Amino acid sequence: MSFIDVNGVTKVYRRRAEEVHALDNVALQAEFGEFICLLGVSGCGKSTLLQILSGLEPATAGTVTINGQPLAGPHADASVVFQEHGLFPWMSARTNIAFNLKARGVPAAKRQQISDDLIKVVGLSGFENKYPHELSGGMRQRVGIARALTTSPKILLMDEPFGALDAQTRGIMQAELLRVWALHKATVVFVTHSIDEAVFLADRIVIMTPRPGRIRKIIPVDLPRPRDPTTPEFNEHMRLVLNEIHDDISRLATR
Ligand SMILES: Nc1ncnc2c1ncn2[C@@H]1O[C@H](COP(=O)(O)OP(=O)(O)OP(=O)(O)O)[C@@H](O)[C@H]1O
Ligand SMILES: [Mg+2]
Repeated sequence: MSFIDVNGVTKVYRRRAEEVHALDNVALQAEFGEFICLLGVSGCGKSTLLQILSGLEPATAGTVTINGQPLAGPHADASVVFQEHGLFPWMSARTNIAFNLKARGVPAAKRQQISDDLIKVVGLSGFENKYPHELSGGMRQRVGIARALTTSPKILLMDEPFGALDAQTRGIMQAELLRVWALHKATVVFVTHSIDEAVFLADRIVIMTPRPGRIRKIIPVDLPRPRDPTTPEFNEHMRLVLNEIHDDISRLATR
């Protein structure tokens, strides 16, 4: 059995008479330490699948097991970086970052040391005492990423975490994420809209169909890291992925 095992997961959101069929019979396995990227058009259920994996949202049907245990709520070894950064507005960047550690009863000195390290890692030095409303969108996102990394999670669930960053910061954060991932041997499920980001990061790229989301195709990326986006091999993978989702994109564009 795989470390993460998603079996026949279906999600229907119901609000009064209205139903949205977000996911249909999704099956997905991830091995311990694997880096998975989820790719698919807007509204295909990527965030929904991540919410289900985090234990925050129940599936309508199907099961998720982690390390052989059925998932029945938020998992202690999992950290989530949401599409909306989800910071506490009344806490400084530093306090936000240290929040998960405080919730786990880590002593103050240790909390300070871990969060100071991560503030440097994500490039927020000088802004650690600012409140979320005083930070740029990209900075807020980096606070969210630092907060998720404080507990050295075994499972890192990331929903377009670099979407709001400029190209340079994004490149730095991608490299940093790979470093942290290699160091901690976390299993990462990373949602992105960006094909080159997926090819740069992933062991396997999981492509989903438009709503209701199903797994359309899984493309392994067997390129050594660090990957060079200018190589023919990198481009060949970009083309493979693009060919898979091209039909979906053109269908949406002509709708
Ligand atoms: N809490 C909710 N209640 C009702 N419907 C929802 C809820 N969350 C998501 N949906 C619906 O489920 C579908 C899938 O949404 P989801 O956010 O998972 O898509 P996504 O692939 O993450 O899209 P994007 O790329 O735009 O972030 C959408 O039609 C959305 O409107
Ligand atoms: Mg989403």
